[in-house]
Amino acid sequence: MQRGAGAARRAVSRAAAARLKNPDVATEVQQGVATSDFIPDQGANNSQWLRNFSAMSWTSSVTLQNINPRVLKTEYAVRGEIVTRAQLLQQELITKPGSHPFDEIVYCNIGNPQSLGQPPITFFREVVALCDHPALLDKSETHALFSSDAISRAYRIVDNIPGRATGAYSHSQGIKVCRDDIAAGITARDGYPANPEDIFITDGASPGVHMMMQLLLGSEKDGILCPIPQYPLYSASIAMHGGTLVPYYLNESAGWGLELSDLKQQLQSARAAGTNVRALVVINPGNPTGQVLSEENQQGIVQFCKEEGLVLLADEVYQENVYAEGKKFHSFKKVARSMGVQDNELILISFQSVSKGYYGECGRRGGYMEVTGLNKDVKEQLYKIASVNLCSNISGQILMSLVMNPPKDGEESYEQFMEEKEAILSSLARRAQVLTDAMNKLEGVTCNKAEGAMYVFPRLHLPERAMKAAGAVGMLADVFYARRLLDSTGIVMVPGSGFGQVPGTWHVRCTILPAEEKLPGVIDRLTTFHSRFMEEFRN
Ligand SMILES: Cc1ncc(COP(=O)(O)O)c(C=O)c1O
Repeated sequence: MQRGAGAARRAVSRAAAARLKNPDVATEVQQGVATSDFIPDQGANNSQWLRNFSAMSWTSSVTLQNINPRVLKTEYAVRGEIVTRAQLLQQELITKPGSHPFDEIVYCNIGNPQSLGQPPITFFREVVALCDHPALLDKSETHALFSSDAISRAYRIVDNIPGRATGAYSHSQGIKVCRDDIAAGITARDGYPANPEDIFITDGASPGVHMMMQLLLGSEKDGILCPIPQYPLYSASIAMHGGTLVPYYLNESAGWGLELSDLKQQLQSARAAGTNVRALVVINPGNPTGQVLSEENQQGIVQFCKEEGLVLLADEVYQENVYAEGKKFHSFKKVARSMGVQDNELILISFQSVSKGYYGECGRRGGYMEVTGLNKDVKEQLYKIASVNLCSNISGQILMSLVMNPPKDGEESYEQFMEEKEAILSSLARRAQVLTDAMNKLEGVTCNKAEGAMYVFPRLHLPERAMKAAGAVGMLADVFYARRLLDSTGIVMVPGSGFGQVPGTWHVRCTILPAEEKLPGVIDRLTTFHSRFMEEFRN
């Protein structure tokens, strides 16, 4: 408990002052492990004392035992212990060159394309730059440097922002002109109308997901059906908001297919156990699993949610990342409307982001959710949640509107835009194939095709002795493998246990994002590591 300075001073003893001068105790104080009986009397150096006192009282009043237990329960593997270790090794490569058997860390843990060299789309950056410095719009030199459609787009956006200021708060759902463009983009994509009033622009898709969990989860009796394996945003957000994750399992042997029979069974048993299942999460294309759902499968899911009164949370952030021949992305909104399922029959929340696709603008934090089927009163409550954060960042809002309303045929940027987009997407498709093939060549590894998204998620059939060795050091087998891989090669992958997996199966997730020219080197390192690992632990 925090104590007043007066009371603390009265409690001080000379013995404690002497202890504080002891260097061991002083270190304890700095580390926040000392207790308040080390506080010196008023004769001691006051400012030093105050610093020490605040360090002591601050750390002693907040401990792992008394913080929100939901935070302790929350895990987020894509930035977990393997990544923390990778950052440490990266530091050591600088401070102690040659201290590891590799000279760089290759971050294959997270779908962060620009960090691995993917260039941004020129048109998007031109518009954002001009909006951020609108004085440029009136300069003649600007016409030599920027394309005419970027200039006219920036004028249109800036002229529709109150005060023409990108440094001002916006409406809590986002700038109207950006929502108009997003709605127009959805309408063009789906062939069914979208309403700008249904759009909530967010700082990436993640805050939208958190907002929905906040809205839906009142206690641990409230459950959300989530795919296993899943992107850990969902398990983390459910844990953070005090709800219950109800798993349904994607079928690895059927290309990570989503089976309605399993969904129904999981829903029934959760209900029988007293859980009030509120929503179903579907990630399409899948992360970490990379499958692209067929339209028929999606129709079944829409019907299921409608019949069971479940909110459909459709994570569609990889909608532009489809590589497999014959596969196509269909938004759940389009599928529902094409079945004649309307607003009053299904609550559908669709998430999109500027972080993925061919744009990969993760750090810009732009996203939106399209909210359909919520009644007016509840939508007002959602608006209240959004307004507690005031608004999402303005550059992210602008970028999101550009992603949904890119240059059109006939505009000056169009050709360059299409070239840049195609180059990125075709390279991602090649990399998805190369990595899948490389994984399948490894002994004891099977890997489904990455039909979409940005990852391969191979299954590791590890020797018994490797699992025993992992157990002996208190690690899960996939963590043990990923840790060994990192220490030997500098390649960072995320253990499958961070996403959930059928008990007794082990996986790792690897992004397909290393630059194409680096990929052969990464695969060589992985292959050499893997065969040594298998040799070392052969039964
Ligand atoms: C399936 C999925 N949903 C949501 C997100 C969150 O993305 P952001 O918050 O950057 O939009 C990610 C990020 O990797 C993801 O893979």
